[in-house]
Amino acid sequence: MTRTILISGASRGIGRAIAERLLADGHRLSLGIRDLEALKGSSLDPQRAGSERVLLHPYDASDAGSAEAWVTASMAHFGAIDSLVHCAGVFSRVPLLFEPGQATDIQQLWDVNVMGPWTLTRAAWPHIAAHGSGRIVVLVSMSGKRSKGRLAGYTASKFALMGLCQTMRNEGWEQGIRVTAICPSWVNTDMAAAVNAMPKEAMSQPSDIASLTAQLLELPNSCVPFELAVSCNLEH
Ligand SMILES: NC(=O)c1ccc[n+]([C@@H]2O[C@H](COP(=O)([O-])OP(=O)(O)OC[C@H]3O[C@@H](n4cnc5c(N)ncnc54)[C@H](OP(=O)(O)O)[C@@H]3O)[C@@H](O)[C@H]2O)c1
Repeated sequence: MTRTILISGASRGIGRAIAERLLADGHRLSLGIRDLEALKGSSLDPQRAGSERVLLHPYDASDAGSAEAWVTASMAHFGAIDSLVHCAGVFSRVPLLFEPGQATDIQQLWDVNVMGPWTLTRAAWPHIAAHGSGRIVVLVSMSGKRSKGRLAGYTASKFALMGLCQTMRNEGWEQGIRVTAICPSWVNTDMAAAVNAMPKEAMSQPSDIASLTAQLLELPNSCVPFELAVSCNLEH
């Protein structure tokens, strides 16, 4: 089935790998990015891919109005939206006993990692529901399932996001919307650039997360996993 898919965070990292894979698979893509120049000249540039296959639109996850504008423009361009892939996200090492100055980092984690996907899902929901086999894929994290280390701010935002995913699953079930929370540990992107606990090649690779996502979009309503825990290291 050829799908019409909104992808946030497609400028780089996991979102970009997913966009490249889904374009190669024949889907139509609407990519919400902050810097429209970020994909210029790439395979995801509408000039190369064709405007009937790819739309680029400004999107800032911390600005609620930009979700509505992006969805409206996508509907005007493609006439339908049946899937949504949430990849925009931020990481920060805010600990439990944060310094006063780190309160703004916590707010940013909440705005981008929680309210961003929430607001975008709300804007796209009626269109995805109308399809009957809509899909919502959310890049959560293993930090949305368990707490490890001293990442209170990031972990709290991802647990909240996981709660949102469960609610989406519940509320969308009868309309054929299937939700999958992908929960990787480390993926070899800019977000993990400062991680030295393992070699980059031992981490999950963005193209492998893209393969999982591509397969999720092929599965029927009766067989879509709600959660994919993707550990590149042993988790007890
Ligand atoms: N990498 C990992 O180890 C890992 C593990 C588990 C889960 N995840 C999750 O997977 C998702 C993607 O991560 P990644 O590794 O691909 O990270 P990344 O390489 O740092 O890319 C982050 C993406 O999010 C976008 N973004 C950030 N703030 C935004 C905002 N306010 N509005 C719109 N877009 C914004 C960035 O756009 P710009 O280019 O404009 O900054 C970029 O496209 C995140 O939710 C992350 O938490 C990552």
